[in-house]
Amino acid sequence: MHATWLAATTMFFAAAATRAVRPAASRPLARVARSSVLCRGFAAEADAPTSAYNKEKDADGKYTVTLFSGDGIGPEVSGAVQEIYRAANVPIKWEEADVTPSINSQGKQVIPEETVKSVRRNTVALKGPLATPVGKGHVSLNLTLRRTFNLFANVRPCVSLKGFKTPYDDVNTVLIRENTEGEYSGIEHEVVDGVVQSIKLITYGASERVARYAFHHAKQNGRSRVTAVHKAPIMKMSDGMFLNACRNVAKEYPDVEYDEDLLDRACLSIVRDPTPYSDRVMVMPNLYGDILSDMCAGLIGGLGLTPSGNIGRDASIFEAVHGSAPDIAGKDKANPTALLLSSIMMLRHMNLFEHADKIEKAIFDTIAAGERTGDLGGDLGTRAFTERIISRL
Ligand SMILES: NC(=O)c1ccc[n+]([C@@H]2O[C@H](COP(=O)([O-])OP(=O)(O)OC[C@H]3O[C@@H](n4cnc5c(N)ncnc54)[C@H](O)[C@@H]3O)[C@@H](O)[C@H]2O)c1
Repeated sequence: MHATWLAATTMFFAAAATRAVRPAASRPLARVARSSVLCRGFAAEADAPTSAYNKEKDADGKYTVTLFSGDGIGPEVSGAVQEIYRAANVPIKWEEADVTPSINSQGKQVIPEETVKSVRRNTVALKGPLATPVGKGHVSLNLTLRRTFNLFANVRPCVSLKGFKTPYDDVNTVLIRENTEGEYSGIEHEVVDGVVQSIKLITYGASERVARYAFHHAKQNGRSRVTAVHKAPIMKMSDGMFLNACRNVAKEYPDVEYDEDLLDRACLSIVRDPTPYSDRVMVMPNLYGDILSDMCAGLIGGLGLTPSGNIGRDASIFEAVHGSAPDIAGKDKANPTALLLSSIMMLRHMNLFEHADKIEKAIFDTIAAGERTGDLGGDLGTRAFTERIISRL
């Protein structure tokens, strides 16, 4: 057990070292790469926050997008998206891909080679939720996808829906979560019987990359501020380095304001009054983003409404924040709104703005008219709700 942990840790630190772009004098890790060639290479990578979508239409006048239907309610909600896109004549051809994992010769969990090729070729994918068995030693497939395609930033907007009243009005938050490391490094080991240690891994390179994307996203979307959310008084080295990266990137964006907030304080202020957060993008390490984004989802009416985009340099995968909801799977009860809104983020990423606006309006008008699925207090099933949206296109 101990030897496995040592091997895993060494591999992680080695990978972290090759990603680091921090000036040598201020690097906290002794094992940071010394090669200036490597550092220059990665500095260039960090300069480009993400790849712009620049694909050509194929001979049929369509763009190809990889589709993972997902588990549980996945096929129902991704089926709703496909039906609505067909009705709205969105020029997209879906390429269904399989994510059934296998273990390769190095003992690593991998997804089928065809699927990897499909995502790399198309550079965009829409993904239904994938179930992760709890506590059975499985690596989450979501984590495998993030690592396979280096999806370094997870963008999670939460916006109040007109006509759907919650205790909070005018919520308009954007949260960007570091997506590749932190508490999700997957490095855990048993020290002695009954004592388990879990490693939170933060690298300067990954922190800088997500910080740069947060500033880029703020500028692109007319938000005037970036707030880094942290627990640096407790995690002095790891969150401290995350903040250093944010501060350094902030210098490159003098027209975007920058500040910092403690995670606990941010939670308290958002639930008291979320409106001041509509001017900014919040950026934070992995686990904080996971929890805070679900909290924001609660303010607007729940997980059935919250979209997200996993942004990478070579590909981006859009997915709902919710899971596979096994309790309602196959019962025509799932709300497809979150996956639909994720697909709308995807359409905007692909510069298909008119289609995005048209479908988004049809969804919002349907919900505002009180035509809703059960999770939003309505009496419509997934299929009936989908038909109501189609009737408004
Ligand atoms: N991105 C992902 O693929 C992802 C995210 C979270 C959880 N998961 C996986 O999903 C499985 C189930 O996780 P969970 O139960 O903790 O969370 P969940 O999000 O699947 O469900 C939580 C609750 O919300 C409800 N719900 C979720 N989505 C809904 C929708 N679209 N419409 C109506 N109600 C909805 C469910 O019925 C359930 O009561 C687990 O295996 C977990 O690992 C996957």
